Amino acid sequence: MTSVVFIGDFQGINGFLGTRGSLMLDVVVLAMLAVIPVLAWSVNLAKRGQYALHKKVQVALATVLLLAIVAFEADLRVFTDWRQRAAPSPYYSADQWSAVWLSLIVHLAFAIPTFVLWVLVVVGALRGFPQPPAPSAHSGRHRKLGKLAGIGMFGTAVTGWVFYYLSFVAA
Ligand code: HEM
Repeated sequence: MTSVVFIGDFQGINGFLGTRGSLMLDVVVLAMLAVIPVLAWSVNLAKRGQYALHKKVQVALATVLLLAIVAFEADLRVFTDWRQRAAPSPYYSADQWSAVWLSLIVHLAFAIPTFVLWVLVVVGALRGFPQPPAPSAHSGRHRKLGKLAGIGMFGTAVTGWVFYYLSFVAA
């Protein structure tokens, strides 16, 4: 038995954006487009004192993102060979340094620390704020790390889109 699926030209399940992206790559690219405004709205809620709603939105966002990361990683490890999908790009080279590899490194330099930050911020907030959530001794640390976590998510999205364009759109 084999664990790979071929549909059309590429291994894995094709996406719906009309590019060479796989289904999960397309889902994540679009999901990031939704995450950024929701995050901005939620931080604004906290600024206006609507802490309970801020908490609900942030916990929901973190849960959806975690599920997306698990599905995405499973897709890339089992079904999709992203290098094969990137191969037609003029920015990709399999055996030497190229813009695709550089953009992937930059993207991971945002994505990995941002993941760690989100875990720290959510777990820290759930432990450090009272129930219902309100400012506490944890506020200073939360505001600082929360801001970094938000900036990290924005950077992760933008660098992810650059990587997606260079790898799966450019021809
Ligand atoms: C990754 C998830 C989260 C991020 C990125 C985040 C981000 C932020 C940011 C940037 C602020 C400062 C807003 C300002 O400028 O005044 C803030 C405030 C706040 N957040 Fe979060 N937050 C997250 C999760 C949570 C959770 C899970 C809770 C509740 C358990 C929470 C409770 C609060 C409270 C109570 C404040 C007000 C703190 C104060 O001003 O004294 N946050 N958050």
